[in-house]
Amino acid sequence: MTPHEATIARMGGATREIPVDVDVLREEIEKTYTDVSTEPEREFIFPTGRDWAEELGYPVEVANVPEASVQSFAGVANHFLLGRIEPAATVLDLGCGAGTDLLIAAQMVGPAGRAIGIDMTASMLEQARKTAEGMGLANVELHEGLIESLPLDDEAVDVVISNGVIDLVPDKEAVFSEIDRVLRPGGRLQIADVVIHKEVSEDARKRIDLWTG
Ligand SMILES: C[S@@+](CC[C@H](N)C(=O)[O-])C[C@H]1O[C@@H](n2cnc3c(N)ncnc32)[C@H](O)[C@@H]1O
Repeated sequence: MTPHEATIARMGGATREIPVDVDVLREEIEKTYTDVSTEPEREFIFPTGRDWAEELGYPVEVANVPEASVQSFAGVANHFLLGRIEPAATVLDLGCGAGTDLLIAAQMVGPAGRAIGIDMTASMLEQARKTAEGMGLANVELHEGLIESLPLDDEAVDVVISNGVIDLVPDKEAVFSEIDRVLRPGGRLQIADVVIHKEVSEDARKRIDLWTG
């Protein structure tokens, strides 16, 4: 199989070409979000940090999440407005980054619940891990990996959350198929993400810088 053929994926029920080299895109995403976790004071083309979370009306539990994680918060909206996560639930955060949403969800589910975070950027995940330990949250589990291929059993999760991540993934069908697999019947998906209401030009689809932002 040629590299070009390798970028063909099943999307939307029909075979569709992914317009970027997925390996290059992942490298660029990893660089961008490593910077967000290691240089959080920098200006990015998207808003970050505690002021942004507060502006979005984040739940009270954000106040308990230390600055070391919240300063790298890079969500796009507040999906907790769709619902709090129930006590004792198992919640999965796709692309948990430095852990703001995950650590809020871990407080909501309490010690009888589980909060599982997945991310592909090691330094983001390391920050989430350190903060969870510092907060004494023994119900947090972290996995380094891709949300297109989740390291979880079928029907293992009550609620899937995600903030500003699925827009970064070209093969959205793989992501939604994995969400469908891991959610238990009657489970819930609540996400915040970027939606574009008009057709994106072929030239724009090929621009890695537009994907990563
Ligand atoms: C915009 S940040 C959002 C992080 C976090 N949800 C938050 O609100 O702060 C995007 C995150 O998604 C992760 N990411 C992007 N594509 C991914 C993929 N295919 N699999 C796993 N993580 C991914 C990045 O590493 C980054 O941490």
